[in-house]
Amino acid sequence: MNFRSDNEAPVNHQIMQALIEANQGFEESYGYDPYTLKLEEQCKALFKCWCETLPLTTGTAANAIAMALSTPAYGAIYCHHDSHLNRDECNAPEFFTHGAKLIGLHGQNGKFTAQDLATALESMGAHAEHECLPTTVSITQATEAGTVHTLDEIRAISHVCKEHELALHMDGARFANALQFLGCSAADMTWKSGVDMVSFGATKNGAMMAEALIVFNAKLNKQIKRLRKRSAHLISKMRYVSAQLLAYLEDDLWLHMASHANKLAQHFYQETHKNIDFLHPVEANEAFCRLPLEKIGQLREQGFGFHIWPGTQDVIRLVFSHATPEDSVENFIRSVLKS
Ligand SMILES: Cc1ncc(COP(=O)(O)O)c(C=O)c1O
Repeated sequence: MNFRSDNEAPVNHQIMQALIEANQGFEESYGYDPYTLKLEEQCKALFKCWCETLPLTTGTAANAIAMALSTPAYGAIYCHHDSHLNRDECNAPEFFTHGAKLIGLHGQNGKFTAQDLATALESMGAHAEHECLPTTVSITQATEAGTVHTLDEIRAISHVCKEHELALHMDGARFANALQFLGCSAADMTWKSGVDMVSFGATKNGAMMAEALIVFNAKLNKQIKRLRKRSAHLISKMRYVSAQLLAYLEDDLWLHMASHANKLAQHFYQETHKNIDFLHPVEANEAFCRLPLEKIGQLREQGFGFHIWPGTQDVIRLVFSHATPEDSVENFIRSVLKS
């Protein structure tokens, strides 16, 4: 009955089991344990390229360290106005970069286009050292609106980044849901489309607390480990984060979990879209729909949990997770459609 957030879902039992198995005896600390070393190799195999992998415990840390890697204090970061980076990280990107400026671009369905970015960049440069220097672009995959950038959209944005020598970051808090929707490889969705670094999320999709900052561009990689330590995110008992990520990737568990969540979101959409108004296409594991206030009250009374989207009274956000039971969705569909 809980459609509030994938963060409210329990930990997948295989990941919990992996934590129990990792809890044997003593291992080296600060990332020199066999789990973290194996994870580094697994990530290279997954993305089919060299990459630096930093296990972390929050998505905000991954995003903020990524920004610190590519953005000097006098720099500017272009992101969607409604992105987590801009709206939900309490100035962590500004804090970690010692004051870089976030420039929020507007655009439908949680995305800005390559053209939006190019237009915003055109207005820069006339004021020389009086203005900040564009250095980084961040896109969210899947977006905060539950949509997914296509490979063409990512490549078009990356093309503008290359022209202006900007680093391209992907906030992949829901990376697996986006990848599952596109059906492409992790390499295609990232470095092969020009992405320099990704905040690779696992917590929302079945882990307990496990994210990773993965950097593909070696030029950005300088002193990344010191940046992590300086920001107080070097985890001493790192094996417990890495063990979660290893179990997450093993036998495509992460993709199976994302597929379950996405399928339920899609099923909800297919069964109800002729009767209710959806604000965005349903592509990953979230749905945003407008309902009469009375209906929202009734659903709440029946015990369904969801968020009213901030700034609205009648838009609800539904999040489907790896652990959402199918019959909860069927019950919800029946209740929504009941007049
Ligand atoms: C798009 C996006 N990015 C990043 C995060 C990471 O957040 P946290 O720092 O809470 O792990 C979230 C979580 O809500 C998110 O939705």
